[in-house]
Amino acid sequence: MNDFNFYSPTEFVFGKGRAAEAGCFVKKYGGTKVLVHFGGASAVKSGLMDTVKKSLDEAGLPHFELGGVRPNPRDTLVYEGIDLCRKEGIDFILAVGGGSVIDSAKAIAIGVPYDGDFWDMYSGTPIKAALPVATVLTIAAAGSEGSGDSVITREEGMLKRGTGSDLMRPRFSIMDPALTQTLPPYQTACGATDIMAHVFERYFTNTREVEITDRLCEAVLMTMVKETPRVIADPDNYDARANIMWAGMVAHNNIVGVGREQDWNSHGLEHELSGLYDCAHGAGLAVIMPAWMEFVYKHDVMRFAQMATRVFGVKMDFADPEATALEGIRRFRQFLHSIGMPINFEELGAREEDIPVLVEKFGIGDGETGGFVHLKAADAAEIYRIAVRAKL
Ligand code: NZQ
Ligand code: ZN
Repeated sequence: MNDFNFYSPTEFVFGKGRAAEAGCFVKKYGGTKVLVHFGGASAVKSGLMDTVKKSLDEAGLPHFELGGVRPNPRDTLVYEGIDLCRKEGIDFILAVGGGSVIDSAKAIAIGVPYDGDFWDMYSGTPIKAALPVATVLTIAAAGSEGSGDSVITREEGMLKRGTGSDLMRPRFSIMDPALTQTLPPYQTACGATDIMAHVFERYFTNTREVEITDRLCEAVLMTMVKETPRVIADPDNYDARANIMWAGMVAHNNIVGVGREQDWNSHGLEHELSGLYDCAHGAGLAVIMPAWMEFVYKHDVMRFAQMATRVFGVKMDFADPEATALEGIRRFRQFLHSIGMPINFEELGAREEDIPVLVEKFGIGDGETGGFVHLKAADAAEIYRIAVRAKL
């Protein structure tokens, strides 16, 4: 196991009806004037926005609203949010929504104290300060409620880029699984795929002697395999929703990834898909992640065979471990299909002729990137091509 620091300062406030406590928690963490940031219609329609605003009123906290965050959140709204916070002297940002709203809130939070274009910090400039951010989560997916990451799309050229800093980790995150019961099945499935992908990015590693994190990863993956079909079949199943919501946080606050080299190429390749086609991140991952697995599995057949046997219950074929590994990947893709995810370019609405553009935007030039397996531009193109051809 490698050396590591694990820092996860967020207070998680979990359970039914807990959004009504938002005001108390903003006060606890020092907010005096709040920006409530939200997305399209869902949080208004469900009454959640009213609950949150009432609780801020009861706590005596002045608040401003900025809605309209779209999936794959855009820089344009971030600029608006930064201006609003500066003009009104806002000192706390409360994101009410999913990963897109939270990431937009984090971008505003680092943009307000920054003396320049916030996009610099999505292009390599280190983050030095941020307003405090907190969340009321409405979808189990991105894990942004516990992560120090934010992913924003620059409208000009539809360039999707991420950045990270512990300064962006939420002060608190309210997690009420009941809030996720209004999700359409497709969004539920996209979220489940993202959660599994966050684990796989960590699971496939060259670091040895990492039994504890291997087993934690497998626990999250097995939970998702069991619970996702339950919520697809019965969207009101609170207990299954609760397990998935906590799995989404555990998958990405890095507790399952510490002490081991991680990969993240599937996320990089996917971000170009959702950047170019504006598709859901989870749907893009459903197409890319099994394709990436097929491209890299020979690098460590036994690790893939371990995933196949422990997570998907494949019987180990000791005479032919490669067959076991491939069966695990096949079952993963089959699982994604069974929950309604696309499995190839056509089903996602992506085009084979765009592969050169996707590879160009992936942006590694003559270099290489990754952890488990280093990819060159030609490898990225081949993974996209595998994703074009993929079938059950
Ligand atoms: O805008 P509204 O009306 O709220 O609709 C949203 C949106 O259309 C809807 N929704 C959310 N909660 C709902 C609901 N509909 C009904 N009932 C509810 N309770 O769901 C749609 C998707 O929302 P979004 O926030 O985009 O989903 P998600 O949480 O999957 O976030 C995706 C974004 O997070 C980024 C992705 O790249 C993508 O931009 N990621 C962020 C990460 C991070 N910050 O750590 C890591 C991830 O790997 C990921 O890259
Ligand atoms: Zn993700």
